[in-house]
Amino acid sequence: MCATALLALTQPWADDGPPPGSGDLPALARAHGVDLGVAVAVEPLLRDGDYQDVVEGHYTSVTAENTMKWEHVQPERGVFDWSGPDAVVGFAEDRGMNVRGHTLLWHNQQPEWLSQGEWTSDELRGVLREHMEALMGRYQGRIGAWDVINEPFEDGGPFLRENLWYQVLGEDYIAEALRMAHEVDPQARLYINEFNIEGGGAKADALYALAADLLDRGVPLHGIGFQSHFVHGQVPENLAETMTRFTDLGLEVTVTELDVRIAEPVSEEAVQEQREEFRHVVAACLDVPACQGVTVWGVSDAHSWIPEWFPGYGAATPFDEDYAPKPALWGMVDALSREPSERSATRTAPGAGGRSRVRR
Ligand code: G3I
Repeated sequence: MCATALLALTQPWADDGPPPGSGDLPALARAHGVDLGVAVAVEPLLRDGDYQDVVEGHYTSVTAENTMKWEHVQPERGVFDWSGPDAVVGFAEDRGMNVRGHTLLWHNQQPEWLSQGEWTSDELRGVLREHMEALMGRYQGRIGAWDVINEPFEDGGPFLRENLWYQVLGEDYIAEALRMAHEVDPQARLYINEFNIEGGGAKADALYALAADLLDRGVPLHGIGFQSHFVHGQVPENLAETMTRFTDLGLEVTVTELDVRIAEPVSEEAVQEQREEFRHVVAACLDVPACQGVTVWGVSDAHSWIPEWFPGYGAATPFDEDYAPKPALWGMVDALSREPSERSATRTAPGAGGRSRVRR
């Protein structure tokens, strides 16, 4: 581990530093039986030692931020590019980390041949099966949980998004895709991953109704991903409560894409307050026995999607643009520093589909 990453465990960002004896974040997460994950990009993961050290030194799992999406995996029909996915999975396996699979059905980042194609329902089913067999099949037994359905509801909800899959296969495409994914990898934990649901409301209610209906019909749905792209000052207090509604259905939940964006100019006060916001989210997961973990969306502020997508906002991750740890990192340490509860031992092995995890 190089100096920059070691600093992350020993040096405070400002006056308020890490809690005394906070030590090793991955060890703390594992003691609670949860994953602490991070979304990674391929280029820096392969070439930037500081980036690698932050990932390895602070997290127990990774999600491919982009490289497992259709446009990257299958840029032309029947032509698969495994360079990115193999790099991410290889990096994780070499370090005893878990991998979350992201994502199989989404309205974004589809190659043109797919999104512009004229499909009959049978043709599209065939294309989907080929894709699942190739991607899930390649990493079977190595990726324990998949975001099978990503963002099925309209941004503001509560209606289903009329994406390609909806248009061609009808609204039951969700059940169909989950069943297909289960046939392809019967061990994998299969998720619906959604945003703007974390504080409850009409969209969360609609997702709840969908999940309950799928379970009633015996559809293999195992979990709900709470993306958790938050705005500083608006992190929902009732996150654990919302998650518990879903776990009461017998589902697991995971915080899959956590970031907390701050309006520019970013004040030191806001950066300090963000510590409590990251603490709150990790603590909410620990409060919910079936919560499998928390994944942060982006290794550092230099790699975050926020400035491109929300001009005027930034500083959304626990590391700054030079990989210096921020109070947000200590917020996660704060949450994980509490005594693991007895229930920690009974959690489903995160990211491993209920199987035991391989750790170095
Ligand atoms: O690959 C091209 C590169 O060749 C080009 O030079 C560069 C120029 O801007 O763009 C690159 O593509 C970018 C791509 O990420 C890969 O970095 C796109 O512009 C950019 O729009 C794209 O954004 C991604 C976004 O999904 C696309 O919808 C973000 O990185 C990624 O963080 C984001 O992730 C999503 C989750 O999958 C689902 N939930 C929401 C989340 C945030 O949107």
